[in-house]
Amino acid sequence: MIKKFLQFQSQEEREWLLRKIMKDIYPNFQPGRCNPLPRYSLDEVALTDRYSEVAPSDVDLSVSCGNIRLAAPLLTAPMDTLSGSELGQAAFELGMGCIIYRHKKAEVQFEWIKQIINHSPCFVHQPKTLGSADTLEDAADILQKYHYSTIPAVNADKKLLGILFTKNAALKENVSEPVTKWMTPLKDLITIKPAEKFEIVRKRLLSERGCSVLPVVDDNGVFCGMYFRKDCRPAKPAYHNGKPLVGMAVSVNPEDIKRAKKGLELGVSLIVIDSSHGNCPPVIEQADKIVKIIVTIAELYGAAVIAGNVASIDGYLRLAEVGVDAVKVGIGSGSICTTSLVTGVGVPMFSLIRECVCTREYLISEGKHAPIIIADGGINNTGQIVKALAAGAHLCMAGKYFAAAQESLAAVDSGARAGDLVYYRGMASRGAIRDRSASFRYGTGKQAPEGVEGFVECRGPLKSWWPQDEELICGGLSHVGAATIEDLHKIGNEPYIWSLLSSAGQRQMETRVLRE
Ligand code: IMP
Repeated sequence: MIKKFLQFQSQEEREWLLRKIMKDIYPNFQPGRCNPLPRYSLDEVALTDRYSEVAPSDVDLSVSCGNIRLAAPLLTAPMDTLSGSELGQAAFELGMGCIIYRHKKAEVQFEWIKQIINHSPCFVHQPKTLGSADTLEDAADILQKYHYSTIPAVNADKKLLGILFTKNAALKENVSEPVTKWMTPLKDLITIKPAEKFEIVRKRLLSERGCSVLPVVDDNGVFCGMYFRKDCRPAKPAYHNGKPLVGMAVSVNPEDIKRAKKGLELGVSLIVIDSSHGNCPPVIEQADKIVKIIVTIAELYGAAVIAGNVASIDGYLRLAEVGVDAVKVGIGSGSICTTSLVTGVGVPMFSLIRECVCTREYLISEGKHAPIIIADGGINNTGQIVKALAAGAHLCMAGKYFAAAQESLAAVDSGARAGDLVYYRGMASRGAIRDRSASFRYGTGKQAPEGVEGFVECRGPLKSWWPQDEELICGGLSHVGAATIEDLHKIGNEPYIWSLLSSAGQRQMETRVLRE
């Protein structure tokens, strides 16, 4: 695919467009005058409901970024307490994109990418098993220690004998009885072969009555692992070129061109040039180089290039000019971000998205290359996700939201479970700067923090809580009559759709949250 590059080469042309868009959006805008503009954050606005024949279950949240199709409009932020192998596997299973953070050792980043690319969705490889001589007491130990209530029994040759569902063995007085007496024997189980496609597995689990688990057994009867219905139900794994979807972050360091190339060879679908300020020559030049690699040398890979962050029309335009597929917008809005406080720079997210959307629409109307918009920073709940998408973003990148997943790097490190507190920190927080793994995002000389460290309550495995959040996001689209994100974008452009909330209106929303 040859991209259409922008013709705007001169500063005058960019400024002309900037003024035009400002005048369109802000009626009181006066070129040449220093007037603070009324820009709003996502929490200051709300959507009006509309007549709707769309049920939440009819809503399709899938979205494209270049050649990549995601099932859910979310990306995990490339942060060192967050995006590693486990979160990548969980995000892939749900059709989201995980952007593996730029570990200071390239081999670690590649290893995580490989693990995700080789991951079979929802497949439990090495579950705890019982032997033929084990007793109900042994099963109770496994239940107590690991909370597993479905335990396969195998013989000495690892051949499957049956599955013990501990609920069937509960309250048995004689705990020294063999599990083989109480298990469901192999002849009464539905099994599948190892090479079965995930879609077939999912279909069987959801359609066969009473089939909550599917053991995988090879031609010799050897037990290989199993699938659970509860895991497969919400799964919508997203692939690109037949490989699991995964992204990687790179820096502006010239060495990182090699990193990006290696990532592409491994099968990475999204390359993010990650910087706290994307509207500067090193980021624009790095984006330019990586886009050219993908368009020319690596055409086959068809990966998408994302660059950022910017918080201005000018920044969006300059990254569009080099042909990136998506621009990350947001400065100063992250939950762990103190940039606005300590540098005085930051643009409220709702207005920032609107300004970039208007710019994008202008580029489309001119037949020019127009990257999609990724809202990044401060998007931590489902309402904010719906509002960011309705404002015109195609994807939301989130940090704190995913820090609550049991698969985040910090949660995996600390063995956190639902209800525990999990460490989450900014990439320019004191801790991250000290550990130096974050230095690339803000430059190697970074000493002064622009972020903080904190804790987030763990919500458990991503796939246990995403289905509810997904339902709420679909509910948001259904309230305004949107069946897809494309519909939502059109609706978000309607004249009466947005309300500006007074401080009382914002308080009212908070009250509802507190009452819950
Ligand atoms: P959150 O989703 O509100 O937690 O924000 C996450 C986003 O904050 C990331 O995707 C980055 O764009 C940004 N970010 C990460 N670390 C820092 C930092 O230390 N200071 C400022 N912004 C940061």
